[in-house]
Amino acid sequence: MSETNIESILQEHRTFPPSSDFAANATIGSMEKYQELYNKAATDPEGFWGELAEKELHWFEKWEKVLDWQPPSAQWFVGGKLNLSYNCLDRHLTTWRKNKAALIWEGEPGDSCTLTYAQLHRQVCKMANVFKQLGVKKGDRVGIYMPMIPEAAIAMLACTRIGAPHSVIFGGFSAEALKTRLVDAEAKLVVTADGGFRKDKIVPLKIAVDEALADNGAPSVENVLVVQRTKNEIQMQEGRDHWWHDLEKDASANCPAEPMDSEDLLFILYTSGTTGKPKGVVHTTGGYNLYTHITTKWTFDLKDTDVYWCTADVGWITGHSYIVYGPLSNGATSLMYEGAPRPSNPGCLWDVVEKYGVTIFYTAPTAIRAFIKMGEDLPKARDLSSLRILGTVGEPINPEAWMWYHRVIGGEKCPIVDTWWQTETGGFMLTPLPGATPTKPGSATFPFPGIVADIVDLDGNPVGENEGGYLVVKQPWPSMIRTVYGDEARFRRTYWEHIKPKNGQHFYFAGDGARRDADGYFWVMGRVDDVMNVSGHRLGTMEVESALVSHPSVAEAAVVGRPNALKGEEVFAFVTLEGNYQGSDALKSELMQHVVQEIGAIARPGEIRFTDVLPKTRSGKIMRRLLRNLAAGEEVAGDTSTLEDRSVLDQLREG
Ligand code: PRX
Repeated sequence: MSETNIESILQEHRTFPPSSDFAANATIGSMEKYQELYNKAATDPEGFWGELAEKELHWFEKWEKVLDWQPPSAQWFVGGKLNLSYNCLDRHLTTWRKNKAALIWEGEPGDSCTLTYAQLHRQVCKMANVFKQLGVKKGDRVGIYMPMIPEAAIAMLACTRIGAPHSVIFGGFSAEALKTRLVDAEAKLVVTADGGFRKDKIVPLKIAVDEALADNGAPSVENVLVVQRTKNEIQMQEGRDHWWHDLEKDASANCPAEPMDSEDLLFILYTSGTTGKPKGVVHTTGGYNLYTHITTKWTFDLKDTDVYWCTADVGWITGHSYIVYGPLSNGATSLMYEGAPRPSNPGCLWDVVEKYGVTIFYTAPTAIRAFIKMGEDLPKARDLSSLRILGTVGEPINPEAWMWYHRVIGGEKCPIVDTWWQTETGGFMLTPLPGATPTKPGSATFPFPGIVADIVDLDGNPVGENEGGYLVVKQPWPSMIRTVYGDEARFRRTYWEHIKPKNGQHFYFAGDGARRDADGYFWVMGRVDDVMNVSGHRLGTMEVESALVSHPSVAEAAVVGRPNALKGEEVFAFVTLEGNYQGSDALKSELMQHVVQEIGAIARPGEIRFTDVLPKTRSGKIMRRLLRNLAAGEEVAGDTSTLEDRSVLDQLREG
């Protein structure tokens, strides 16, 4: 985060309580009610979660024990049997919600459809049966590499229905990134589409799958199921590739949901860490279902009349928890949008709000900053009066963007929920409750009931008021990460050992710095590790470095995030070349393209600077702090006495 942003946040004193009307109609309508829930969860967590699990979910068999906590391993609802797909679909079919819209889909170019709970259930059962026909059994992993079309959600729900853990890979990832993830998850089946529409272009997803699987690239993959979306030219490999519309025809719409153990693997979702290799975050069934259910219900104060729209992609955790599972488990209407603002239609999001009467709108600060840039006229030309709650996620929101969102989109009447959480946490950790919490622009306010969050120093001691420290969670919660797929040691090292356990107290830490103000509000300051946040997407500096050094011209690379007004951060790479290469603009473009090929467009460096040497300490560690200063065009701050060769600095400045 930039200095100015930190300063403006430090001076932020405005508070925005919910209106009395809003509070009166909210499920949790006061801070007293919030406090009551919070205290109950803190004093009797097992009672709190047990009661909710009983009340809010359907179980085939009840659990024997709510929590078995052997730090850092948690088991929730031990011995309980349930099915997430059942909780999202079947249980609504015996109620009036059977013919309620489950998914409203607005596609490109101008396509749209609505699936009721009954229709969605039918499609999910059919796809689940097709999976079985293709040899997928309980426990087998399925890769999902899809555009934002209903079949993406259908594939996820079909997996959970038969107990085949999915690993959704964001459609913007390259063939290479797809391959790495399919290999790590040992996926048996890949579900994809011929292509997806993205800003007036076609993303050739199936071609990327072909590339990933070429030369036995992901040997575990036996079959590929292809949804026809764009009708672009693709090759179908006999025996391996199957059209969904061919197999769907004869598939039965009857597929009972498999009773799953509460701790059975539900899905793996890859996310960036501080090493080159992305980690497969593991979530399990019962805890994830309950936590995403209850956070959706309370944080968005869900009503049956709501039209809820989260603009994320299903390839990220936000799409998993808050487009698909949380909303559907509640029987809500969830809108899925394939499009994005583009020059030919910059106001398209507001058209969607108006067209469907969206009541809850959840997006990212980077998108809000883009809306600001496009101007107030676009939203003002549409009827946004249906909106009643706004949300934000992905990075700290700067107070100016918050105020614009509040004023222009929310018409000064919609509470804003700034939700802090992560792939690893499964659901919201810090968030206002819209009918209760007086919000402050830029603060994610308070922990959700059941979350024991704190800000501590490296020894685990709480820091003082307005002092920066590490944001930690001190008690287990139902949707917490269970392990890193295939790498338990990495799980322990990454999240639980940064701050060493003390007197039996374990600290979950996943990389953010924060402070708490005099009123107890949490202010998340951003990552304190080598992870960048580019347009709300997590990217490891090492991941981009590995991509760069895999190019024959690159000897060494150091990547840092540079503050960017629109994206939050952008990728800035310092590169030293192999002896026989010369830095040039052409080589810069080639390297940028190479990173896109290795990871995807989200990782494209905004700038590459060639240098003869990189600043290192005497023990050979790259001094990233210093590079961050240089990338931002700032004076090099702090101690540089450990720098091996001080003349390096001038060279790096000149570039
Ligand atoms: O740095 C925090 C930031 O996004 C990181 C998690 O990224 P990811 O696992 O990709 O999940 C993104 C969607 C949940 C966090 O470690 N972050 C997320 N939400 C916020 C945030 N930072 C500040 N405020 C938020 N509301």
